[in-house]
Amino acid sequence: MSDSSISKFFEKTRQERLDIVAKFANLSDKELEILENNDGGISFEKADNMVENAIGTFSLPLGVATSFQINGKDYLVPMVIEEPSVIAAASKGAKIARVRGGFEATSDESYSIGQIQILDTEIDSAIKKIQESSKEIILLANSRSNTLSKMNKGAKEVSSKTIDTPLGKMLIVELLIDVGDAMGANVTNTMCEAVSPLLEKITGGRTLLRILSNYSTRRIAKATAVFDKNEIGGEDIVDNIILAYQFADNDVYRAVTHNKGIMNGIIAVANATGQDSRAIEAAANAYAARSGQYRSLSNWTKDSDGNLVGSLELPLSVGTIGGIANVHPLAKVCLKILGVSSAQELACVMTSTGLAQNFSAIRALSTEGIQKGHMRLHARNLAAAAGAKPDQIDKIVQKMIENKKISLDEAKELLLNFDL
Ligand code: MEV
Repeated sequence: MSDSSISKFFEKTRQERLDIVAKFANLSDKELEILENNDGGISFEKADNMVENAIGTFSLPLGVATSFQINGKDYLVPMVIEEPSVIAAASKGAKIARVRGGFEATSDESYSIGQIQILDTEIDSAIKKIQESSKEIILLANSRSNTLSKMNKGAKEVSSKTIDTPLGKMLIVELLIDVGDAMGANVTNTMCEAVSPLLEKITGGRTLLRILSNYSTRRIAKATAVFDKNEIGGEDIVDNIILAYQFADNDVYRAVTHNKGIMNGIIAVANATGQDSRAIEAAANAYAARSGQYRSLSNWTKDSDGNLVGSLELPLSVGTIGGIANVHPLAKVCLKILGVSSAQELACVMTSTGLAQNFSAIRALSTEGIQKGHMRLHARNLAAAAGAKPDQIDKIVQKMIENKKISLDEAKELLLNFDL
């Protein structure tokens, strides 16, 4: 089995990094070429087929986080993100978690929820009739996907609920659909639309919305890890991290930022593997507020030996087949680098990455603060933006830090005087 704990990966050249990744993931020459190609993965023609009014494509940095061990398996985790420090922080978190066995993660089977809103009906008798016709409804829904039916997946349950609104009570019918390794939005919407005429016939009512719910509470992923107190810097730091977590768990202003740090990890993997990041964000935020108060998505405690124990739980609706992963060559290669064989495994990796990210953020915040690391990377960006050549960047960054002046003007000024 390949080892993902690659020492000083960040100090290697691009070619060396690519070679390591290609070897780790057994990439073909063609796949390596896709990574080497600097067009960001899709041609304009592809972009034009994907969205309306296309005028170009827009690329972001793709990196890999190292050292991840999840359920005993090593992963190099591809991350697409514009923010400095995130990939380094994920790798650092994974490296420390690894000391005590890495992450343990689980993910529910991929059940998506489709909703059909029914109006102008006598609700109690409609609910009864729907229950009596549930087999017929499920059969009709499944007639819309041969693929899922062949795999013994597809629509499995129909349920009904009533909601109170200022415009009166409404009946909401929900289809529970096993979508396998797909994210499943299309098939869920198709099935909802397919059964709505039958629901109108059964209930005598009128259906209005027929749509997937992105609040994917039947696709919950969980990750836990133990972070060794000595690796962290001692039990005092463990205690401070737990205090930092309590701040987030009990104050919405802090909780949003804390959860944003978690999403830095999750969304970066979502971007790299072609997931619907908006769906993931919306569900995660609703889940954070499930108690009635918006809280931390993660939980931090310590074990009897004083080590830090972290866990993260959230709904994750992701797919390894269908969607963008099918059409975006880079997303396909990123999935190959990850080496996941199912949507559930992908959800386990994403949750572990979110936890690693959260660990590193609150560790930095409860020790030296995040600006030190951030500013160095920010200074690198500024030096490059000022036009510094690769062999000039380190010196300019160092000078900006020494002078405590980190700005584009300062970088330009230093560049002008570089040889003086
Ligand atoms: C920055 O992108 C993320 C953090 O603000 C997260 C946090 O505060 O926990 C560092």
